[in-house]
Order: sequence, then structure tokens, then C-alpha cells
Amino acid sequence: MTEEQRLEEFQRKIDSGEKIEPKDWMPESYRKNLIRMISQHAHSEIVGMLPEGNWITRAPSLRRKLILLAKIQDEAGHGLYLYSAAETLGASREELLENLHTGKAKYSSIFNYPTLTWADIGAIGWLVDGAAMVNQVSLIKTSYGPYSRAMVRICKEEAFHNRQGYEIIAELCNGTPEQKQMAQDALDRWWWPAIQMFGPEDTKSTHFEESMKWKIKAESNESLRQKFINMTVPQAEARGLKIPDPNLVFYPETKTYTYGEVDWNEFFNVIQGNGPMNKQRVRARKKAHDDGKWVREAATAYAKKKSKQSAA
Ligand code: 3HC
Repeated sequence: MTEEQRLEEFQRKIDSGEKIEPKDWMPESYRKNLIRMISQHAHSEIVGMLPEGNWITRAPSLRRKLILLAKIQDEAGHGLYLYSAAETLGASREELLENLHTGKAKYSSIFNYPTLTWADIGAIGWLVDGAAMVNQVSLIKTSYGPYSRAMVRICKEEAFHNRQGYEIIAELCNGTPEQKQMAQDALDRWWWPAIQMFGPEDTKSTHFEESMKWKIKAESNESLRQKFINMTVPQAEARGLKIPDPNLVFYPETKTYTYGEVDWNEFFNVIQGNGPMNKQRVRARKKAHDDGKWVREAATAYAKKKSKQSAA
């Protein structure tokens, strides 16, 4: 088949809703786009453990500590799952991690903000995992088989992350006036970075065309952002919290909200490495990777010894 015929056959498979599997022919830019997106998704999961890890020793009860530990362990698992999905496209995990450690690869901008109070741990579960859930449920429909299947498993755990975060916020809102104010303060600081998680407007989204044509994404950044806002505003109002957007307007006939201007300058400034915590996050990841070198070497040596024994 000529390159053109292969491309036609590929597009036919995409349009018919067939999943593309690792051994199938695929355009080089499809492969590259997916390695970029899946590896940055994996980096986000791993870096996302850091803001929450900051509160393990300060969780207000043993139950809260157990739930937080379980959530952080889940995020590690999501990251490893997604690195494996990226490896099915021929990516090398060492290279992907090198790209994270040298700042060449991105991770979700939201993890460059500090967790100042316990309410932030609630806001992360409620808003960040809530936004991630909206995005990841849509990614179940992605055309790349291994990524789509990874999303099924991850979304189940994401639902638990989102509910436990909202429970923390609800408890604070039912507490003292100071606790309720702490929840409102966390919402004020995490709301706009959470809606930026869906990426820039579609007109400014570099990968929009290709990602939609080849169904890497089933829905656009804008439509997922809108879904998240429509779902989350009523949850805030149910707890007596105020969304920090004076231009938020509800349209009962369409059950949807219009919202104020997003500060894309801040967004691009943060993803260029100038957020409040970018340097600390990358430094912490690099240190963890360097400290774990002996574990990787021991595991590789053990695996080599085992394979020699089974070959003998
Ligand atoms: N943070 C950092 N960079 C972002 C970003 C964000 N929130 N949104 C977009 N960008 C970057 C893109 O990576 C791209 O840069 P690149 O070409 O160097 O990669 C550039 O901004 C232009 O954006 P696009 O819209 O063109 O990029 P995408 O088509 O990749 O769309 C996305 C962005 C919607 C985040 C998409 O990549 C996606 O759906 N990724 C999979 C889901 C994911 O990564 N989620 C991250 C959060 S995971 C999480 O929170 C886990 C939870 O359990 C804690």
C-alpha cells in the first residue's frame, strides 16, 4: 500500500470508531502526539503526589491520613500505568523521565501551586480530581487502545478521589466559621487554576485539529471546561460557598453557566516554569529519582540473574 492508502485506511478505522493498537500502522505524528500527551499525563500524576504529600503528617485524623495515603498511592499507580501506555508507542521511560527532570516535558500547571491549608487537600480532591475526572471520562473514548483502557481503571479511582475531597470541604463548611472561611479561601485560590487544567481555548490549542481528526480527544478543551463548570458550581452553592468569578451567569433553560475571562497570561507563565512551585516540584522529582537509583539497579540485577537461571 502507498503512504496515502495507509493514511486513508487509518482514517477509515478512526472514523468507524475502531481502536488503534500498538502493532497497527499509524502516522508518525499520531504516535508523537500520543507519546507527548500520555507522558505528560503520567508526569502530572507523579508530580500531583507532591502537593498532597505535604499534608500526610498533618492530616487532622487517622481516617483522613489513611484516605490521603490511599489517594496518593493511587496517583503513583496511575503514573506508572500511563508510562507503560506511552512505552507501547515505542517511548523509553528513561527518556520520558529525563524530559520531566530537565523541564523539557510539561505536567499539569495546577501542581505548581502550594497547599497552604488542610482545605487545599479538599479543594484538590474536589476540583483538581473533579476536572481530571471530566477529562479522563472523555478520554475513555480516545482512539488509542492502551490509553482508552487505562482510563477505564483510572476513572474508577478518580471518582473516589473526587468524593473524598468534596467530603473534606463539606465537613469544613459544617464546622466553625473559621473552618468555613478556610474552605472558601481554598476555593478562591484553586478555582481558576482548575478550569485552566482543560488547556487553552480551542482557537489557541496547538494540537486541536489533529487531536480531534484522529479522535485522540473525543471532546474539545472548551466543551470539557464547560462540563466541569456546569457540574461544580452547584456543588459549591450546596455548601454555601461562592465561586470567585463575578461574571458567572446561570442560564436555567440550558442549565449552563457563562464565566469570566480566564487569565491565560498567568497560565502560560506558569507552564513556562514561572509558577510559585515549579522549581521545587521538579527538584523534588529529580531527587526522588536519584535516590531511587539503587532500587532500579537492584531490581535490574535481580531480573538479569533470574533470567540467567531460567535460561540455564
Ligand atoms: N498544564 C500544563 N500544560 C498544558 C495544560 C495544563 N493544564 N493544558 C495544555 N497544556 C500545554 C499542552 O501540553 C501544549 O503544550 P505542548 O505542545 O508542549 O505539549 C500546549 O499547552 C497547548 O495546549 P493544547 O490544548 O494544544 O494541548 P493538548 O491538546 O495536549 O490539551 C490537555 C491539553 C487537555 C491537558 C490534554 O493534554 C489532555 O487531555 N491530557 C490528558 C489528561 C491530563 O494530562 N490531565 C492532567 C491532569 S492529571 C491529574 O490531575 C491527575 C489527578 O488524579 C491528580
